[in-house]
Amino acid sequence: MNLELNGTVAVVVGAANGIGRAVADGFAAEGAFVACVDRDERIEEVAAEIGDTHDTRTAGFSADVTDYQGLCALPKLIASALGPHDHLVCTAGMGSGKFGFPFWNLDPKDWEQTLQVNLTGTVNVAHAFTPAMVHRRRGGFLFYASVAGQIGSQTDPPYSASKAGVINFSQCAARDLGPYGVRVNCLCPGMVKTDLNEGVWKAWCETEEGQQNPQTYDEWAEEKIKRVVPLGEWQEPEDMAAMSVFLASPRARHITGQTINVDGGFVMHS
Ligand SMILES: NC(=O)c1ccc[n+]([C@@H]2O[C@H](COP(=O)([O-])OP(=O)(O)OC[C@H]3O[C@@H](n4cnc5c(N)ncnc54)[C@H](O)[C@@H]3O)[C@@H](O)[C@H]2O)c1
Repeated sequence: MNLELNGTVAVVVGAANGIGRAVADGFAAEGAFVACVDRDERIEEVAAEIGDTHDTRTAGFSADVTDYQGLCALPKLIASALGPHDHLVCTAGMGSGKFGFPFWNLDPKDWEQTLQVNLTGTVNVAHAFTPAMVHRRRGGFLFYASVAGQIGSQTDPPYSASKAGVINFSQCAARDLGPYGVRVNCLCPGMVKTDLNEGVWKAWCETEEGQQNPQTYDEWAEEKIKRVVPLGEWQEPEDMAAMSVFLASPRARHITGQTINVDGGFVMHS
């Protein structure tokens, strides 16, 4: 299927690692020019590697999603390097590193940074990039949330609540931007083996209950996947990338305001 993304400009925020890197790679494989944004200092190196692999134009930009002024400078910088952007995928995110069960195991202060990065960070990105999209009356946003944001997951309450906020904000933005021809969707991965997933889940192993469990973290995680995911497998970053590039493409031109789970059937809605 030709996704007609050749020569378009995609921005991927959180592109240095994990899912974001696979998404940047996915756009480059489709012949898109890719602006890779991350707070990780290796971002320029990662962008160059992706460009070399797929023989397309890429550029790396260092930015933190909590720095709104820094983000506001990006659309112009990206336009100078690669041309005005068409698509933006924001995958930047973090877990609190704390374990819930019950939520009062945490202190209210444990919520601050997670909300700041996951929710306010997404809003900052939207504010910084919307004017250029409204001006061009094209393109779209894809924000990364999580299945945890749909089920009141107890594992990491600040993380779950921040992702519920991202889902709700995506719907709000889709309504506001629809009349300008700009689509906004939200992708919820289920369980992908990345640093973030391990950080959230490993917090469990450090609890007293976890310490008493004779299984290693890997054994416990493997068993959990088989038990709770109908398809019984981890998802791969490339599974998220495939959906992300499809949603950016004209093939998805009537899809907006949707929360799309790529989770092996973990969460099902009627
Ligand atoms: N891995 C999973 O199982 C899973 C499940 C559900 C949702 N998600 C979501 O998918 C997205 C990607 O997760 P991942 O597993 O690839 O994580 P990851 O930790 O592997 O990668 C996250 C990337 O975001 C960047 N980042 C973090 N904070 C940032 C900030 N303040 N400013 C700029 N960049 C920042 C990091 O440097 C990193 O490159 C996240 O939003 C996460 O919540 C992941």
